Amino acid sequence: MDGNGRWAKKRGFPRTEGHRQGLMTARKLVQNCISKKIPQLTLFAFSQENFNRPPQEVNALLQIFSEAVSAWQQELKKNGVRLRFIGELERFPKALRLLMNSLQNQTKTGQNISLAVAVGYSGRWDILQAARRTADNFSEESFVAALATADMPPLDFLIRTGGEKRISNFMLWQAAYAELYFTDVLWPDFSDDDLQTALDSFADRERRFGHLSR
Ligand code: IPE
Ligand code: MG
Repeated sequence: MDGNGRWAKKRGFPRTEGHRQGLMTARKLVQNCISKKIPQLTLFAFSQENFNRPPQEVNALLQIFSEAVSAWQQELKKNGVRLRFIGELERFPKALRLLMNSLQNQTKTGQNISLAVAVGYSGRWDILQAARRTADNFSEESFVAALATADMPPLDFLIRTGGEKRISNFMLWQAAYAELYFTDVLWPDFSDDDLQTALDSFADRERRFGHLSR
């Protein structure tokens, strides 16, 4: 979800305004994915590298994130969203971790969509933590089962907004056969129509997984 800062700058707003607007976009997108019967959605909200931004910005992001976690509760439950957070959650303040935990527990029975919010996540971290945890009994199967994405379906489609054409340390292992989609649309502007355009592109692709065309 890239482009919040630029969206704000274009309008002469502080960057935090872009993050707030980006959160609204995320909320709408979850609704839209439910209507489209998309069973699994992951939002890359905050990378490990984002901790290196100026403290003012990190604090603002944590503040918005905390507010969202509280404000989103009823909506998620009402809409049957099963929420989980993936990433190195230990890097977040204790109070926020408790909120995240409680939200996960409260939405455990959601049936309409499984939503993963990646925070303090990085693809290399995920590979390393899974490797560490399985070192004694290593196999591809045990490794994959130790990744943060263990009980999610395979990553089919990866959308990056905001114009950059790179993966930026997202799901490195998981993206092996993901279809990639890059759009210049800044995240706060990413609309229902933009999602549909992206999905139309996905539908047009032939996924061969290294095999020959059928
Ligand atoms: C993405 O928007 C949101 C987060 C990384 C939290 P940016 O903050 O990267 O926005 P730009 O790239 O500066 O426009
Ligand atoms: Mg950015």
